Amino acid sequence: MSDVIEVRFLPTTDFPPGTVLDLLERSYDSLLREEPRYWGPERESFAAFDKEVYDHPATVGACVLVTAIPAVTASGANGIAGTGNRGASSDGTGARADAAVAAAAAAAGVTRWRAIGLGTWDPRQGPAVGIVGHNCVIPDYQGQGIGRRQVQEILRRFRQRGFARAAVTTSEHPFFVPAQRMYAACGFTLVGRRSGGPDPRYGVLDFALPF
Ligand SMILES: CC(C)(COP(=O)(O)OP(=O)(O)OC[C@H]1O[C@@H](n2cnc3c(N)ncnc32)[C@H](O)[C@@H]1OP(=O)(O)O)[C@@H](O)C(=O)NCCC(=O)NCCS
Repeated sequence: MSDVIEVRFLPTTDFPPGTVLDLLERSYDSLLREEPRYWGPERESFAAFDKEVYDHPATVGACVLVTAIPAVTASGANGIAGTGNRGASSDGTGARADAAVAAAAAAAGVTRWRAIGLGTWDPRQGPAVGIVGHNCVIPDYQGQGIGRRQVQEILRRFRQRGFARAAVTTSEHPFFVPAQRMYAACGFTLVGRRSGGPDPRYGVLDFALPF
């Protein structure tokens, strides 16, 4: 079996303000650039969400997990935590190199972490339903099961709190095919399709998962 990247799910308070915005912008970058008319304004909602998270760490911020890998610099010294992701390559070699670095870092007991994704949730309709919110993995780390593990971790927290079911919404836009597949892989089923969302050309898909 291929190597599974070691990840940790950490609180947002371990990372500086701007981390949530940075992760969302990177993960949605191609959509925001290629479809600015409908999706460009999402950047502002990402910034507003980042502010909410860091202004309210005990409430909104407590419903966010930051997925992180051990970080070291090329020299082998401790790396940077938080948003220090700018050097990653776009062809995936960065991710493979980082996997090796992560293993070395873990063996060396390195305790600094680099954010590569996030998952969020809204428990306010609990215990009837827990809603999975923003979730993303930066491009270099996509397609390796990390998105699925993030959602599974949120579902684990819902179950632990005795929630009856989980719900999540996404778009029919082709950009969201990985998200649709990810929710199906986590056990969600499609329960509805409706209009709405930022892009009127595509419907909104509602998924549900009873526990
Ligand atoms: C959705 C997202 C979080 C998935 O993260 P990921 O780490 O790549 O996901 P996984 O590796 O766990 O793969 C999940 C599923 O997506 C599929 N997938 C991954 N990349 C894909 C791609 N480029 N094209 C088609 N399917 C893809 C995987 O095959 C898997 O489906 P399977 O279980 O049927 O094989 C990530 O693509 C992302 O950040 N997208 C942009 C933001 C977004 O759409 N967030 C969700 C909002 S509702």
